[in-house]
Order: sequence, then structure tokens, then C-alpha cells
Amino acid sequence: MDDRILSNKQVVDEEYHEQSLRPKYLKQYIGQEQIKENLKIFIEAAKMRNEVLDHCLIYGPPGLGKTTLATIIANEMEVNIKYTSGPAIEKSGDLATILTQLEPGDVLFIDEIHRISRSIEEILYSAMEDFYLDIVIGKGEESRSIRIDLPPFTLVGATTRAGALTAPLRDRFGVHCRLEFYTTDELKNILTRSAAIYDCEIDDLSTYQIAKRSRGTPRIANRLLKRVRDFAQVKNDGVINEVVAKTSLDLLQVDSSGLDSIDYKILECLVKRYDGRAVGLETIAITIGEESITIEDVYEPYLVKEGFIERTPRGRRATQKAYAHLGVKFIEK
Ligand SMILES: Nc1ncnc2c1ncn2[C@@H]1O[C@H](COP(=O)(O)OP(=O)(O)OP(=O)(O)O)[C@@H](O)[C@H]1O
Ligand SMILES: [Mg+2]
Repeated sequence: MDDRILSNKQVVDEEYHEQSLRPKYLKQYIGQEQIKENLKIFIEAAKMRNEVLDHCLIYGPPGLGKTTLATIIANEMEVNIKYTSGPAIEKSGDLATILTQLEPGDVLFIDEIHRISRSIEEILYSAMEDFYLDIVIGKGEESRSIRIDLPPFTLVGATTRAGALTAPLRDRFGVHCRLEFYTTDELKNILTRSAAIYDCEIDDLSTYQIAKRSRGTPRIANRLLKRVRDFAQVKNDGVINEVVAKTSLDLLQVDSSGLDSIDYKILECLVKRYDGRAVGLETIAITIGEESITIEDVYEPYLVKEGFIERTPRGRRATQKAYAHLGVKFIEK
């Protein structure tokens, strides 16, 4: 169970809170301007032509708003959305049941789409391209293939690892949305919006303090806001000001750059253990006792974006900035 305050994964109980904070329409979705602009046009065009929206693939690290955006697409198209996930679709029959229950125009959201099995993926091809299913029923000589026509629908797939998708599947998505980490200003806007929903008083300096420690991730920003709000409730009549924000964030041991203990382990591994040399992902994983996939999907994107590490053909290397952050003297090699 991941209980770090800076984890970008959703933790138990959080779904309930996220529901209330989740924007429902594009105009409430903060940041990701290019994606919003494109989607607005695609959605309007599809509605004008009375067609379904093209299949959309949304990718990016956890907590950046993939599920939120999928829900918004359905709301803007004024259709229903059904949620499922790659690992939940075990048999071709599972997929057939889901697809045949859709109404024309509906959105089918498949989370973690990189985790669907190969056989399911192959059935999806014809479903996505021509809206029919070829299903084999029975076994051996008795088996026969039946064709089931489907209502036109929009598949919205979400993944933290677009690279893990096969090319034929990836190519069947007409719209690709790559979510970026949010800027401090965008996170401040998200925090201001969330504080208003919570009916909680907060000033500009406080949203800044929380935003810059949120790893560019709305989920983390909202989580930190909740903790700071608790602190303010008990210590300051519910009002969040800069002192309250700073004190509570320090108590939560959140670093001013948004780094947490695992980020530190990665940086210390590169700087101290391997003395600034390029190190392979597997080696880092074994050294710090984390899975390499977790490092690659969850930690590395932010560390790279902030310029603490760089990816080289021979592995990952700590930058000068990482040395400075750890207070270790940098010697050019
Ligand atoms: N652009 C945004 N504007 C405002 N709030 C946002 C935005 N994006 C995300 N959020 C907030 O962050 C929370 C997490 O977003 P969401 O669940 O959509 O992330 P995700 O990318 O699906 O994560 P995961 O990879 O874990 O499934 C949402 O509940 C929502 O409140
Ligand atoms: Mg999600």
C-alpha cells in the first residue's frame, strides 16, 4: 500500500474526494491548453456531423487527469460513459458483453489499456475500426465464428505507458492526448478551485506554497490541500495563510521541490553510490529496492522534467542540480 503523501497514485478513500473535485466540463479543466483546444474542435465537429468522436488515447503519469478528461469527453459529447480497465477484461466474452451493452455514441473508457491481453486486443481491432466483433464460440470441430454488429462508440483508452502499447492498437486511435505536468500557476488555479469547493479560505501565497511542492500533479496538490486544511482547522480557525501552509507542509516533510524519500534514494544512488556515472534502470531498482517500472513511470518523469537526472544511452545520470540539491560537490567527469 502506497501511503506516501507525495505519491501520485490514488489511495483508498481518495476516489470519494476526487469525485467532488473532478471537473466535469472542458472549461473547468485547468491547463493542458493545446489538448483542450483540439478536443473542443473535434467534439464540436463530431456533434455537427452527428457522428461519434474518434477513438482517443490519453497518456501521462498518474494523477495528471486522464480519467477526468475521459469523463469530460463523454459529458461534452452528451453521451454515457462506461468504465473498465485492461486487467478487468479477462475473456473475449467480457469484452463482448461490455461492447454490446453500449448505446450508439457512448464512450467506453478502458483504463490501463496497455494491460489488455493480446487476444482481447485483436478483437478490439475490428470493434474499433468497423464496429463489429468476430467471436469464436465452442471448441474444436464444434467451434464456429460469429459476427456481432456493434453500435458506433468512442473508445477512450488511458495509460501511463504509451510505449507499452502495440503499434496496431496505438494507430487505431485517431486522437492522441499526451498530458504534461502542470505549471505552478496552473496548480495554483486548481487549488483555488478545490478550496472554493471545500468552502475553505486560502490566499495566494499559500496556494503558491502548496503548488510548488506538488510535483506538477493535480492529485498531489489536492491531497496536500486537504492536509493543510486539517491543520488550519485545528490551529487557525480554518483559515489557510502562508505560515499555516508552510508549517503544515514542513510537518508533512514535503521538500520545497516536491521531492520525497524515494526521489532522494534515487538521487543518492546516482550521486553517492555510483559517483555520477550513468546507471541502468535495473541497477537503480535493485539498489534502492523499488520496481523498475515504478521508477520509470512514477519517479523518473518528474526528476527528468525538473532537471535532476538525465537519460543517456548508457543509463540514468545525476545532473549538477541533483548534486546541489543533495549538498554534494559536483566534479565534472
Ligand atoms: N486539469 C485539471 N483541472 C482540475 N483538476 C484536475 C485536473 N486534472 C486532474 N485534476 C484533479 O486531479 C484528480 C486526479 O485526476 P485523475 O484521476 O483524472 O488522474 P489520472 O491521470 O486518471 O490518474 P491515474 O493514472 O492514477 O488513473 C482529479 O480528481 C481532479 O480533481
Ligand atoms: Mg485514472
